[in-house]
Amino acid sequence: MPATYDLVNSRLATAFGAVLAGADPVLRPSDRCDYQANGVMALSKSVGKSPREVAELVVASLEFGDIGTVEIAGPGFLNISLSPDFLSTQLSSLLNDPRLGVERANPENIIIDYSAPNVAKEMHVGHLRSTVIGDALARMYRFKGHQVIARNHVGDWGTPFGKLIEHLLDMGEDAAIATLSIGDLDTFYREANAKFEADDGFKERSRLRVVALQSGDPETRRLWRILVDQSVAYFSEVYAKLDVLLTPDDVVGESFYNDMLQKVVEDLQTAGLLVESDGALCVFPEGFVNRDGDPLPLIVQKRDEGFGYAATDLAAVRNRVENLQAQEILYVVGAPQAQHLDMVYTVARSAGWLPESVRCEHVAFGNVLGQDHKMFKSREGGTVKLVRLLDEAIERADAQLLERSVGLSDEARRELATSIARAAVKYADLSTERQRDYVFELDRMLAFEGDTGPYLQYAYARIESIFRKLPAPADFEGVVFNLAEPQAWHLGLGLVEFPIAFESAIRDLLPHRLCTYLFDLAQRFTAFYDACPVLSASGSLQVERLALCRLTGDTLKLGLSVLGIDAPQKM
Ligand code: ARG
Repeated sequence: MPATYDLVNSRLATAFGAVLAGADPVLRPSDRCDYQANGVMALSKSVGKSPREVAELVVASLEFGDIGTVEIAGPGFLNISLSPDFLSTQLSSLLNDPRLGVERANPENIIIDYSAPNVAKEMHVGHLRSTVIGDALARMYRFKGHQVIARNHVGDWGTPFGKLIEHLLDMGEDAAIATLSIGDLDTFYREANAKFEADDGFKERSRLRVVALQSGDPETRRLWRILVDQSVAYFSEVYAKLDVLLTPDDVVGESFYNDMLQKVVEDLQTAGLLVESDGALCVFPEGFVNRDGDPLPLIVQKRDEGFGYAATDLAAVRNRVENLQAQEILYVVGAPQAQHLDMVYTVARSAGWLPESVRCEHVAFGNVLGQDHKMFKSREGGTVKLVRLLDEAIERADAQLLERSVGLSDEARRELATSIARAAVKYADLSTERQRDYVFELDRMLAFEGDTGPYLQYAYARIESIFRKLPAPADFEGVVFNLAEPQAWHLGLGLVEFPIAFESAIRDLLPHRLCTYLFDLAQRFTAFYDACPVLSASGSLQVERLALCRLTGDTLKLGLSVLGIDAPQKM
């Protein structure tokens, strides 16, 4: 059955269309009535009639049937009240719908480029954001019915590998593997850098090593592989700890595109797009200028003949369009790379590698800040290790559970603490509008009150506990939703809005909209539960209230799951 919003909207669209073909009713859920259509103003301008007149024309041709009633308010708003029968039928259909009203799309191939940490470098909070947002989008798109191809564009190539490989040799392979496998990537990187700065002999060896790596020397490649494999194994541990869906198969690092880079240059040359500037080969895409108004180059090949980050991204676009048949490419990358990515798509479009029909979107995100509202740094001033944050979140969640003496085995309590910690960290990230910065504050993220992941998990577990108290499994056959109390009505309306919230989040690539919806729903549920006793009710009233509990629980669980957050039965 179509979602409630769509049913109401399509009737209104027909009536608006009778006044002017294609006019949008601009329908929104409303606190004053059930829905409000605000499209009259725009329509009145288009047809040159007064809003009041237009509102009356719309109402005159509106065929709402049993959906509800409409009233003209103010200068021309249309206030819509749903009929109880209609809302009841809608809620009943949701009870039998595992998708809770979200329609399946025609499947498309969606590439999501996310996480992308760098080999032999620590994953930091920026990678956390990319990983968590990318994972949520991947789950949402898959739920919508699309074919998602995750691409973990790991930084596994470039001049730093000269010194990293030389350092690995100095340490001895076994010792290096031991350091890397415990995830001590930063120490390894720092030591390599320090030697490079202090020791000219090491510097020269590193330079030669880069040449050997680029020319495909087998022994050098083998050593490079060790660095990559150890790092990827470590990233996988972090992904497992976060419970994200990325696998080693999704790792298609920068090096994968090496063989395609020469062709990128040649084809740009043939297309007449390449310009030599200061010895480097560049494209100056139209519309990009620096602060002084001078054209901005996208550097494809550097003066030293090495290929840069841009060349790899161009090759990746081609590969994704030609080989993976991408219909949409999402880049979940920090906001500072906006211009780089924009230049990459512009050049790829001019070169004919990226048809207009393929949408490219930069899913940009802001910074994670420390408690001092400055860039998040460790006490020593270095990058904060992502796993350390997760471990600390788990410790604190575990301590909270011990304090509440939840009566679980050590193992079960640990598992619950892990689930709460993940929910806390992911929800805090996803619930902030992604372009904005947020402060990393574990105590606030882990709180059971307020707009937090653990609060929503708890709301779900509380609903499950109601069902555990029943003498027999609930049976919703023939349930009628009378929704007599205002809190029940308000909850019922909230429940049918899940598809709107989901669609709006996926359309604009803004997971926080789904978070806002779920938090609001949990609050509606609390108000309902305070006003409308469930376990002490009887007969059809109890069935109705239990059905509202079931739908709320199912909606919270599904909503959290598409964000990558699980909902334990008990907390
Ligand atoms: N490895 C880069 C970093 O850590 C991010 C790569 C983003 N993806 C891309 N296709 N450029 O900043």
